Amino acid sequence: MNLQVIILAAGKGTRMRSSLPKVLHKIADTPLVEHVISTAKLLNPNKIIGVFGHGGDIVPTQMKKHDVTWVEQTEQLGTGHAVDQGMCAIDEDATVLVLYGDVPLTTIETLTALLSVMSNSKNSIGLLTAIFQNPTGYGRIVRNSSGVVQKIVEQKDASDTEQLINEVNTGILCAPAYKLKKWLSNLNNENAQGEYYLTDIFEMAVNDGFTVQTHTSTSLWEIEGVNNKRQLATLERQHQLLIADRLMENGVTLMDPSRIDVRGSLETGSDCLIDINTVFCGDVILGDSVSIGANSIIKNSILGRNTVVHPNSIIENSVIGEDCEIGPFARVRPDTVLANKVKIGNFVEIKKSNINAGSKINHLSYVGDTIMGSNVNVGAGTITCNYDGANKSLTEIGDNVFIGSDTQLIAPVKIGNGATIGAGSTISKDAPGAELTLSRAKQFTIQGWDRPVKKS
Ligand code: UD1
Ligand code: CA
Repeated sequence: MNLQVIILAAGKGTRMRSSLPKVLHKIADTPLVEHVISTAKLLNPNKIIGVFGHGGDIVPTQMKKHDVTWVEQTEQLGTGHAVDQGMCAIDEDATVLVLYGDVPLTTIETLTALLSVMSNSKNSIGLLTAIFQNPTGYGRIVRNSSGVVQKIVEQKDASDTEQLINEVNTGILCAPAYKLKKWLSNLNNENAQGEYYLTDIFEMAVNDGFTVQTHTSTSLWEIEGVNNKRQLATLERQHQLLIADRLMENGVTLMDPSRIDVRGSLETGSDCLIDINTVFCGDVILGDSVSIGANSIIKNSILGRNTVVHPNSIIENSVIGEDCEIGPFARVRPDTVLANKVKIGNFVEIKKSNINAGSKINHLSYVGDTIMGSNVNVGAGTITCNYDGANKSLTEIGDNVFIGSDTQLIAPVKIGNGATIGAGSTISKDAPGAELTLSRAKQFTIQGWDRPVKKS
């Protein structure tokens, strides 16, 4: 089958109350239309045509990493007119699948089922329908007494009896291109809304000897569109529940599947545990037995096996080794690489640093632009002064170094292997290995000194 997909994305989305074209609003941090493009790609079509309108070429521009041919619909004259605009880029021998840029969660399984019912017999077109308790607003599927589809009537054009029909048009259909072109060219806009209805092709197809093969979706969320922020939020949650379900299917323990957000791809090993209110952004990989504490945010990072992230920690663009402990309340900023068994404790910020195996930075520290050896102990409150107001400089710390609490390391500076730095030091020159270095005023006592007293 020479499958070619048309995605309608020309609508303005007035009810979104936003200057952004509707299809660029996001679910899981990905524009609605990008969800549709990604699903379409899974069908391996020979072409994807996008029809854009409102907002100028901001939609094509934002989607430029995808191989989509964009066609402009300058005036929104109806769904039939929109598909017709897209048809100019479609080949005569193609099978056309029509999708909607604001219906983001249609599954590949449903589309595959629709394409297969359509290709079951010659001279047929495929239509995805759904059964709604309350079909108000949707086009109704009109069948004859033998159950064969005759036509679709829009809500505003439906008679009282037609309005009782609860099988509705999802809008998603597939048809042979050469016929679809012909039917579209015969559309008119003599109807309640003065629009060129795509739905009118069904009656034409039936009159042309075609059979409408339907596939009925049982999951309402996969055919639901986004028209306002309420629907956007509902579909976001639905999408997240589906992801949570897949994670649990893969053996991940979720403390609450309704309180996890995955905005990108999350790969997990066996026996991972994810606590509540955790957010995963971009591409995240968790090794076996990784545990993520509540309220943590992990972005574009890889975490090795057995690593534990305690609550309220943020890790971004970093690679974390095995058996590490991070947090609670830790911030690991981009370009950090932690080897195995590293501990990053509470209120510690690490940026663009390499920390080798077994090193510990347990309390209240800032370590930036640093290369740290193995088995280093960094005392509470230690800070690398990596920025002089103009440039960033490197701090190099050898293996087995002990840095006393409340030390400032003024970069560029090197601390040799096995060095000890006395607490409270300001280290502005290199410190030799295996020696104690400190910079500290001598402690002295003023005998008989009195505290100030409040003047009367
Ligand atoms: C349409 C169907 C209706 C179906 C419903 C499902 C028609 C005539 N009606 O109605 O049977 O039950 O969808 O949601 O097809 N669009 C364009 N250009 C246009 C008009 C629309 O790109 O000129 C796009 C919109 O951006 C939207 C989609 O097509 O993504 C559907 O258009 P909309 O006006 O929402 O159709 P409905 O009235 O909901
Ligand atoms: Ca709609």
